[in-house]
Amino acid sequence: MKASAIIVAAGSGVRLGHSTPKAFVPLGGAPLLSYSLEALAHVDGIGEAIITLPSGMESAARTEIRRAGLDLPVKLTPGGAERQDSVRIALALTSALAEIVVVHDAARPFATSANFAGVIAAAARAGAAIAAIPLADTLKQVSEPNLIVGTVPRAGLWLAQTPQAFRRDLLIEAHRRALAAGIVATDDADLVQRLGATVEVVAGATLNFKITTADDLAVAAAIVAARADRSAPSSSNR
Ligand code: C5P
Repeated sequence: MKASAIIVAAGSGVRLGHSTPKAFVPLGGAPLLSYSLEALAHVDGIGEAIITLPSGMESAARTEIRRAGLDLPVKLTPGGAERQDSVRIALALTSALAEIVVVHDAARPFATSANFAGVIAAAARAGAAIAAIPLADTLKQVSEPNLIVGTVPRAGLWLAQTPQAFRRDLLIEAHRRALAAGIVATDDADLVQRLGATVEVVAGATLNFKITTADDLAVAAAIVAARADRSAPSSSNR
């Protein structure tokens, strides 16, 4: 079967300073989640989608799924306490016929269809692959509260993003072991690495940043506005 897509969207908006759950915070007039759904709608080879949601958001999610033209079987499920719990819950709902599962954070609205396709193709070949970008800044080790104690050489350091794609059996085993051992990681690749499996990186994009703070949301809004401006018909007298 084709790949299964998991979109994790069950987080709160606390760090954003919003009472609305993060995936439903408006960005350019549409909820954050809608951007990931639109990207997913244009990826070939996806057979189903599982979306984790905060409670009470099912109907709003269905509206966005329709609007994005996501013409796939979609299962909606409440998330867990942490992101990792949400992924595990969604994973249990994926079809056993899917060879590849691709996981994406709804909090990254600018992931492209090409980002999805890239990690799916690499995972189909290599077992596991994530979108990532090489670190551009200088990395400092800081002791509490504000004293630099070292500089971490940045050669070979990359920033992990989503989408991340894995052979389904590998990801299930990684989550099973993590649960049994009480391991909590901030991404799925880490859990798969702990199995001793190799994980490839595929070029992500600087624009594929995660919305965490109000500043991130303001930057994202400026990007959406600039894109809308560019695609608007130009007036010759402007
Ligand atoms: O909190 P953070 O932005 O790191 O979460 C990354 C993604 O995981 C978000 O899209 C969020 O909605 C999702 N998430 C989830 N369940 C949780 C926590 C986060 O689905 N319990």
